[in-house]
Amino acid sequence: MHAVEGKVQPERLGDMPKAIWWAASMLAKIGGGEVVPVTALGSIISAVTVMLGIGCFALPVAIIGRGFYEEIRRRDFVLTFALVAHVPLSSGLDAGSIAELLKLLSARTVPAGTAILRRGDRGDAMYLIASGAVEVETARERVRLEEGAFFGEMALLSQQPRSANVTAVRSTDLLILGADDFRRLRERFPEIGASVEAEAMRRLRPQ
Ligand code: CMP
Repeated sequence: MHAVEGKVQPERLGDMPKAIWWAASMLAKIGGGEVVPVTALGSIISAVTVMLGIGCFALPVAIIGRGFYEEIRRRDFVLTFALVAHVPLSSGLDAGSIAELLKLLSARTVPAGTAILRRGDRGDAMYLIASGAVEVETARERVRLEEGAFFGEMALLSQQPRSANVTAVRSTDLLILGADDFRRLRERFPEIGASVEAEAMRRLRPQ
């Protein structure tokens, strides 16, 4: 701008320090409007400088935002991985299989007293208790399920409505497996499918 408009606007762009101040204030858009370009080339340089200014701020914000996002994702992955590795159902699996299983699960924390399942409802998912406890209320008994146990499998296996009410006894971290993903899980890990079926059969038998 000094080269292009230094002679036309000597009081604003007549020397390098003035031109540097113009460039800096245009990039940051603080007071850039004081100097209005008077030549065509000066207008183009000003327009490009404003665009560069936007880039100077937008780029670091995007980079920092992406960094935060990646960090949160990594933390969530590590936390959920630890929860899944903790559940007995998946204890025989290697790290690769747990990571595969993780893709099928979503995590949810419910406060104490939350009605998680209601008898008679349609079943669309099964649940693993990563931490906390729930109470299962069937027509004939009340059973407490603790960390590591699962529930909600019967409706998926039998295609029948929910057989019991399930309520969180305290704040509980759940890992949720949707019906379609439950089918995929049984195909991919038949041994897990077999343990779930065996447990469902045991629960159906009168104690
Ligand atoms: P589902 O019928 O889908 O929904 C209610 C759940 O409660 C059921 O699956 C089982 O996971 C669980 N449940 C039912 N009966 C018992 C029992 N006797 N012991 C433990 N859990 C049970």
